[in-house]
Formats: sequence, structure tokens, C-alpha cells
Amino acid sequence: MTLVSVLGGKGGVGKTNVACNLAVAAAARGARVLLVDGDLGLANVDVLLGLVPRGTLADVAAGRARAEEVLVRGPRGVDVLPAASGRSEMAALAGEALAPLLGAIVELARGYDVAFVDAAPGVGAAVVAFAAVSARRIVVATPEPTSLADAYALLKVMRRDAGAPDADLLVNAVRHEREARDTQGRLARLVARFLDLELRALGWLPRDARLVEAVALQRAVVEAFPASAVARRIGALADTLLEHAAPLRDAQGAAAEARA
Ligand SMILES: Nc1ncnc2c1ncn2[C@@H]1O[C@H](COP(=O)(O)OP(=O)(O)O)[C@@H](O)[C@H]1O
Ligand SMILES: [Mg+2]
Repeated sequence: MTLVSVLGGKGGVGKTNVACNLAVAAAARGARVLLVDGDLGLANVDVLLGLVPRGTLADVAAGRARAEEVLVRGPRGVDVLPAASGRSEMAALAGEALAPLLGAIVELARGYDVAFVDAAPGVGAAVVAFAAVSARRIVVATPEPTSLADAYALLKVMRRDAGAPDADLLVNAVRHEREARDTQGRLARLVARFLDLELRALGWLPRDARLVEAVALQRAVVEAFPASAVARRIGALADTLLEHAAPLRDAQGAAAEARA
């Protein structure tokens, strides 16, 4: 199991679209995929994928349901763990209340090849907690200066409060490759100078009207418009992530064979 959190300091930079589409693309490639809505108080994943949840993480937190009981089946067989919407007490979950919920999510994730968490914006307790338990942290930022400033602030908090040694930067909604490289370079220089953290360049996604169309249709763009530029690049990213997840499975398989 590889737990991948999709984070970003600012709202509206594309976290939910990245998490949902990576999950659907990974599932289309044959992986068993869990998609967790980590925006505990303002859920979006179910809306983006046009799903109707039977229950949410608020029910799990309150002890009314187990995590597997509120799963809802998404495109390509992705199992979605929905969050509640408009629940300020969920958004404010911290410390002692957060730990058991996180434990339940990690436990559930063990049954999958890969689990993606769509994190809330900002640098709240839940964001830091998800960053801390994840094997990979994808930070989504757009070329806007405000997004870059917030991504830097998030990396700083992740390093300090989550002990995160590294993160993968994904630049979203760029007009051309040069803009992606500029953005990446600017953030990389700041990080190299001020933070003891390895920031890897995971790649970039183009600004693509097809993604906006897919959102309106409440469908993942990789399903609705698989030939679009953004969908192709997300597919390639999913390949990269699964490549890194694969050795884990191979190692387990080899161990099982050795025992047999
Ligand atoms: N690559 C992109 N191309 C075009 N529009 C995008 C792209 N990424 C995000 N957007 C726009 O930004 C909106 C917010 O995206 P979302 O994934 O919900 O962001 P977040 O989860 O970070 O708040 C989308 O509904 C879409 O209109
Ligand atoms: Mg979102």
C-alpha cells in the first residue's frame, strides 16, 4: 500500500481534480485504489465524481459507522471514502479526535495498492497529519504568486510539524512548459535556500478547458475526455506513481513465493 496525499496551500489550485483523476487513472491501469476525501468539513470528491454517499467520515468519527461501511464505488471501481460537507466541527478536528480517524483510514488503506487523499487547503491539523502518514506528498500549485507563496508556507509547516523530508511538486493549470519550469524553479530556489526539504519536480498539467467541462459534467476528465492534453498527462503521472508503488507488491509477492 502506498498512501499519497494531494496537498496545496491554497484553495482552487486543482487538488481535488488531481486526486480524483490520479485515482481513476490508476484504477484504469488495474490498481486497487482508495480515494479519501480529506477535506473533512467541506467535501468535494463525491460532488466532482457525481457520487451519492451513504455516510461520511463524520459518521466514522462519531462512531456511527466503520470506514468500510461508508465506502462508495466510483468510476473504474475506485473506492471513495467521502467526507461531510458544512461540518465545522469536522474541519476543526485536531489532536486526540483526529488520531483515531486517521488510524481507521490508514488501516482501510492497507487493503489497496494505492490510496490517494484529497487534502483540505491550508496548514490545519488534518493537513499536517495526512502529510505525516503519507509515503508521498504531492503539492499542487499554480503559477500565480499567491499559490506559490501558499505552497511555500505549506512546505515549511510540513517540514516543521509533520517532519516531512520531501515532497513532489505538481504545477497545475499552466499555459506552456516554460511557465511550469519558471514556477518550479522559483519554488525550488526558495526551498533550497530556507528549508531542509527535498522538493522533487513531479511534472505539470496544462490549463485545459476540457477539465472545466468535465467538472460541470461531474465526471473525471480522464474518463470524460481521455484524449485531452490534461487527461494524457495525468495518465502518465499515474504510471509514474504506480511504478514506484509496484516494487512494494513485487517484494511482497517474492516473500510469499519464498515461503511457499
Ligand atoms: N488544469 C486545469 N485546467 C483548467 N481549469 C482547471 C485546471 N485545474 C483546475 N481548474 C479549475 O479550478 C477549479 C478548482 O479545482 P479543484 O480541483 O476543485 O481545486 P482545489 O481542490 O484545489 O480547491 C476547477 O473546477 C477548474 O475550474
Ligand atoms: Mg478541493
